[in-house]
Amino acid sequence: MLDTYRRDIEYLRVSVTDKCNLRCIYCMPPEGVKSASHEEILRLEEIETIIKAAALIGIKKIRLTGGEPLVRKGLDDLVRRISTIPGIDDITLTTNGLLLPARAKALKEAGVKRVNISLDTLKDERYRDLTRGGELAQAWQGIQSALEAGLHPVKLNTVVIRDFNDDEVVDMARLTLENPLHIRFIELMPIGSSLTWSKGRFVPAGEIMDRLKRKIGQLLPATMTSGGGPAKYYRFKDAAGTVGFINSMSEHFCEKCNRLRLTASGGLRPCLYDEREVDLRTPLREGARIREVAELILDAVYMKPDRHHMLDGWRDKRRSMSQIGG
Ligand code: GTP
Ligand code: 5AD
Ligand code: SF4
Repeated sequence: MLDTYRRDIEYLRVSVTDKCNLRCIYCMPPEGVKSASHEEILRLEEIETIIKAAALIGIKKIRLTGGEPLVRKGLDDLVRRISTIPGIDDITLTTNGLLLPARAKALKEAGVKRVNISLDTLKDERYRDLTRGGELAQAWQGIQSALEAGLHPVKLNTVVIRDFNDDEVVDMARLTLENPLHIRFIELMPIGSSLTWSKGRFVPAGEIMDRLKRKIGQLLPATMTSGGGPAKYYRFKDAAGTVGFINSMSEHFCEKCNRLRLTASGGLRPCLYDEREVDLRTPLREGARIREVAELILDAVYMKPDRHHMLDGWRDKRRSMSQIGG
């Protein structure tokens, strides 16, 4: 489905819950964010109906996100149902990994192809501080279980924050020399609790690339066969994995943006940075049929702006990243 700017919209990110078992400092304030009530959250059958409608207008890839998607009950069943929807050929998951050890195998069997896992530091103490109480060893077990379950390629998401974890980018990138892991360095975006931070916390991807080249070696352009996202990938000579960069701020990729986002409470967002949402929950609960839902999804496609305006001082004050779905 082409939008007004001739971008092919084929990827839907679905937040299945706004709850999370962590409270990462760049995502949430210390007290967490108030989650929506049980009534406000879409039921699994409602999510299924929306994905069926989305498939009718050309959505092919589904990424389940949160909050933390693995805290939502019935997720395996939802995945099984989505995998039977004609037109959907890719189901993936973005998770903090903590609950993966017990779940990876079943998710793979249900139809999840691969997972992206947050990993912002290699230091135990720092992981505890950053996630406000999470255990790094548990996240590593999650990564290991994803590899063992064959949820390949396993991609890691690292949000880089100056004077917090930017001293680790070289060590993190080195992981890719021996391990089949794909580390993506993400530029910090002014959403959620990171809003309270100064611009000084932001590290442009170019700076990270320079450091990696100096300390490890040449970055050779690489292609990532699977994935619908905006990361640009490179590989060190003979490395088992790759390093990627998600340059949302320094070099926005809006002209190639291929996605819509469904919030846990049923709002369809044309853009991560655009507060406008098309409400799908109310019409669904008033009995809208799949065709009618598809028409509403088209409305969101046509509302999709040409680009974001974060660099012009725009800020999303309404929702945190855990509520939008990352
Ligand atoms: P694949 O390429 O399919 O593996 O996934 P992805 O990179 O799209 O998904 P993931 O959930 O791992 O996203 C990683 C990060 O990319 C998110 O946390 C965001 O920081 C960033 N990101 C994802 N989608 C968008 C988007 O539409 N716009 C911007 N600016 N950033 C995005
Ligand atoms: N800037 C950039 N990325 C963020 N994420 C959460 N908050 C921010 C932010 N302010 C990322 C997490 C996770 C994904 C779902 O969203 O690291 O990988
Ligand atoms: Fe949870 Fe992800 Fe937000 Fe961390 S970034 S608090 S893991 S939703």
